[in-house]
Amino acid sequence: MDDLIRRIAALKKEKNALILAHTYTRAEVQDIADVVGDSFELAVRAADTTAAVIVLAGVRFMGETAAILAPDKKVLLPVADAGCPLADMINPDQLQRLKAAYPSAAVACYVNSSVEVKALSDVCVTSSSAVRIVRNLPQKQILFVPDQNLGSWVAEQVPEKEIILHSGFCPVHHKIQPEDVADARKLFPGAVVLMHPECTKETRREADHILSTGGMVALVKEKKHQRYIVVTESGITHTLQRHDPAAEFIDISNPAMYCRNMKKITLETILRSLDEEETLVTVGDDIAEKARGALVRMLELNR
Ligand code: 13P
Ligand code: SF4
Repeated sequence: MDDLIRRIAALKKEKNALILAHTYTRAEVQDIADVVGDSFELAVRAADTTAAVIVLAGVRFMGETAAILAPDKKVLLPVADAGCPLADMINPDQLQRLKAAYPSAAVACYVNSSVEVKALSDVCVTSSSAVRIVRNLPQKQILFVPDQNLGSWVAEQVPEKEIILHSGFCPVHHKIQPEDVADARKLFPGAVVLMHPECTKETRREADHILSTGGMVALVKEKKHQRYIVVTESGITHTLQRHDPAAEFIDISNPAMYCRNMKKITLETILRSLDEEETLVTVGDDIAEKARGALVRMLELNR
């Protein structure tokens, strides 16, 4: 492992590369990254970097987002087939049909989506920015795609808008039941329950705080609590523990809270990616231009 880490560091320096890792990646991947963050932070850091190469230790839509926001950089995905099943739950034809059915609605598309779907959308959102962005949109009617759970969370927070939901869901978060959380509370009394908005409405009722992964990090950094039950992908407990080593983080005891796509990224795949400059993320100019509009609007409206 030490040898791998040394070789990654040497190649990183030689190629002027930046490693951006999502909080759901493996602990050893997070430990060698320059930035560990939620999908919003990774997008912002990709847009801002002066590095020549960006290694996006995350799933495909994160690499595509970085490539669109940083068109003059080489964006590398360590694992080409690390996808996000939620992103595949709407295709451009389905979105076109929805747009035809609701012609005056603004389309807000979760960043967990394909480039083609982004290109048909008015604005992208992430879990940390969705509420603020939807609130700031001038339209009253909003088509929210593809995640029904994040969409229903936004609808609860922004009751003045009429939110039309699509049927997509994250297989990792959607399976968690309210009883799973209630059982964990009984086992760990006094623990504060942090939950991602991709969980269902029923399960969200069991939470103390509904937060994006970045929001969880921000809350834990305040060091106000000693014990947390964490209801999102298991990789984040490593991130949280680094920010408050004295606190206890309890992974909800459900094997479903494991994103096998995020876990495909290893130190070996990062080394190979840097060495061979594979897999280069490329997005056609026309489609990138259209998708960039929705992504730039996301950055602007999240102020
Ligand atoms: P965040 O926006 O919290 O990083 O979540 C991304 C994701 O894929 C959640 O499953
Ligand atoms: Fe996609 Fe869910 Fe994995 Fe996030 S946790 S990348 S939404 S499958």
